[in-house]
Amino acid sequence: MDKVLVLDFGAQYAHLIARRIRECGVYSELIPYSTAAEDIDQLKPKGVIFSGGPASVYDKEAPLPDPAIYELGIPILGICYGLQVTVHQLGGEVVRVDKREYGKAVLKIIDTSDLFKDFESTTVCWMSHGDSAKSIPVGFEPIGCTENSPYAAIRDRAHKIYALQFHPEVSHTPRGKKILKNFLFEVCGCRANWTMPSFIEKSVQEIRAKVEDERVLCALSGGVDSSTTAALIHKAVGDQLTCIFVDHGLLRKGEAEAVVRTFRDTLGVKLITIDASKRFLDKLRGVVDPEEKRKIIGEEFANVFTEASIKYGPFEWLAQGTLYPDVIESAASRGPSSRIKTHHNVGGLPQQLEFKLLEPLRDLYKDEVRKIASLLKLPDTIVKRHPFPGPGLAVRIIGEVTEEKLRICREASSIVEEELQKHNLYDKVWQAFAIVGDDKAVGVLGDARCYGYIVSVRVVQSIDAMTADWVKLPYKVLERISSRITNEVSGVTWVTYAISSKPPATIEPQ
Ligand code: XMP
Repeated sequence: MDKVLVLDFGAQYAHLIARRIRECGVYSELIPYSTAAEDIDQLKPKGVIFSGGPASVYDKEAPLPDPAIYELGIPILGICYGLQVTVHQLGGEVVRVDKREYGKAVLKIIDTSDLFKDFESTTVCWMSHGDSAKSIPVGFEPIGCTENSPYAAIRDRAHKIYALQFHPEVSHTPRGKKILKNFLFEVCGCRANWTMPSFIEKSVQEIRAKVEDERVLCALSGGVDSSTTAALIHKAVGDQLTCIFVDHGLLRKGEAEAVVRTFRDTLGVKLITIDASKRFLDKLRGVVDPEEKRKIIGEEFANVFTEASIKYGPFEWLAQGTLYPDVIESAASRGPSSRIKTHHNVGGLPQQLEFKLLEPLRDLYKDEVRKIASLLKLPDTIVKRHPFPGPGLAVRIIGEVTEEKLRICREASSIVEEELQKHNLYDKVWQAFAIVGDDKAVGVLGDARCYGYIVSVRVVQSIDAMTADWVKLPYKVLERISSRITNEVSGVTWVTYAISSKPPATIEPQ
């Protein structure tokens, strides 16, 4: 399989570059900028991309690649800081400019023979840089310029080294993907052989070769990562896979039933469901502190899971839905990349159990996982459902988790989801749910005054959950949600809408 490596110089966009390349059908991985040229050569990439980064080449500790990389004969594309590094290392001059160039700029294209093949004379590009190239190394020529950057795009054609001062990977550079495609297919000669059907085929073979005739255990949460992991392993080794689904009583409406329907009834997976709701709710009685609630749920999950793995075992393998960003993150923090995720959806798996880890999705991004889920015929109710925290509705119930507040939270959340679906908004937002606490307000029911719960509705938009904006829902949708909740969920008198973004708020209230 052809691959292109992205040398990571610390840009927030580094993952985006790799994702864009994969979208073009070419496999791409991030590697540290300091990887030795010899090691890069051994990985046999068809091309190398230098990501941007926050540094200046004049910083004391400026991250610079192994200069031998320019001698490998592998095509290189430097992006932003990647351009400055190339210019600096190959003998050009980089200078600091007084004013940072930030935003859209018009790129005048000088040559359309390779990187800008099929381009008109100008195109829009997105700039974000402080330093700039003042002169370019011998052998280089400009192939694009902007008003402020005479060397916005340069190349050394003989050595197949290209560099851009702007960011082709962001959507603000409308034809950026075409530039990346030209680099991949015109310059590097890549073949577009990274497809999800071919990934499934390869992965199934690998799983079979690893697992042989041993048994695999998978904790199914109903989320897209663990569901896809289970479906893929089931395709590979069938009944050697056992899934355990723990219902902790804090799930969304219809969630447990949907998991059973999909996995046991449709896919024919060996599924053990454990109704542990009473156990969890007993442990949570009287607990109001949010972190204490999380801790109890995590520990209880580990207990239930351990008991089940012994009862239905022995199992040699534990399957986990680790994704590529998790792998990179734990490698960056110098943790062993195969360790069990601490922020796992099910709230942490028991560490003391000795399993070999099976992580078939560890090379994939979330959008690729969703494609695989669809190819494996998982229903949209799983593939497209919003992310849901491991501790479940407990983090959406402020104060003690009681049966009554659970019912209100579950029913009201289901109405929020239904209304967004009806108005074609569900797939456009990150998360949408209801929150209930202990505050009550007076309402009128028939002719009588009554005292009922206040429910808050929370709908947010986000890319990665690190930051989030509250969604400006149309009034008519808010009105419908509010009237349905007060009419259909008994015990609720008021509905409010949470209009805090993250930061300073968080997405979940607890
Ligand atoms: P916050 O509330 O921190 O949430 O803004 C960010 C994202 O993480 C999810 N979340 C969790 N997921 N276990 C999880 O698996 C947890 O304990 C947990 N707490 C929050 C939350 O739903 C949001 O998408």
